[in-house]
Amino acid sequence: MKDKANKNIITNLSARSPFAEAFRALRTNINFAGLDNPLRSILITSAGPNEGKSVVTCNLGVVLAQTNKKVLIVGCDLRRPTLHKVFDINEHVGVTNVLINELDPAELAQPTDVPGLSILASGPIPPNPSELVGSQRMKDLISRALEKFDYVLLDSPPINIVTDPIVMSTLVDGVIMVVKSGATRYENAREAQAKLEKVGANIIGVVLNSISMSSGDYYYHYYYTQENEGKKNSQRIASL
Ligand SMILES: Nc1ncnc2c1ncn2[C@@H]1O[C@H](COP(=O)(O)OP(=O)(O)O)[C@@H](O)[C@H]1O
Ligand SMILES: [Mg+2]
Repeated sequence: MKDKANKNIITNLSARSPFAEAFRALRTNINFAGLDNPLRSILITSAGPNEGKSVVTCNLGVVLAQTNKKVLIVGCDLRRPTLHKVFDINEHVGVTNVLINELDPAELAQPTDVPGLSILASGPIPPNPSELVGSQRMKDLISRALEKFDYVLLDSPPINIVTDPIVMSTLVDGVIMVVKSGATRYENAREAQAKLEKVGANIIGVVLNSISMSSGDYYYHYYYTQENEGKKNSQRIASL
């Protein structure tokens, strides 16, 4: 794990912190949401940049791996890769190589120091990211990854900026939307949600990510409410 701030985000999970508790609640709710059809491929996305998609993906990957599951995080934000900032991995080999050369994703997956958690980095930045991640080959990548891993988590770019996550949302079992408290505008979140609903994505929940560095440390709070009322997409999973 690389720099201190990013390392903290992950190591916080081993403590009995509200942060860790929130991610465990997220894990539990994913299990509940998938009682009939287990949710094994999950896209994590949000309306705009810097809302915490990658942080949520990494931490969810860690808590899922902590239950002795094999987890693969796939770096699908080809334009703005960040997973290499969290884990000691080579960012230059990954998704794009698998898609272009039709390789087995497990071949290029890189282990992390979290047992059971591997990363498929994004790889070289292609001229046509949207076409690549929206191709039949992306679908093949996910299904091949599911042969070797219990969970496949896709870290993605923002919905309101590029079309990639919309296309990818139709290839996975479920979608988690991250909303950054105090930053994501309501209209933008609604626009993103509408785009996902239009293609029939299975939105399994919303994570409220709350960041304040004012105390010199991460501030986070936790609560869990289920506002289900028969509507899956009004479910709030956890607040981080
Ligand atoms: N809950 C959090 N606590 C502290 N820092 C966070 C939190 N969520 C995100 N960050 C920081 O905010 C920045 C943006 O997060 P990131 O996950 O990369 O956003 P995105 O993937 O949506 O662009 C990163 O520097 C990350 O470390
Ligand atoms: Mg990101």
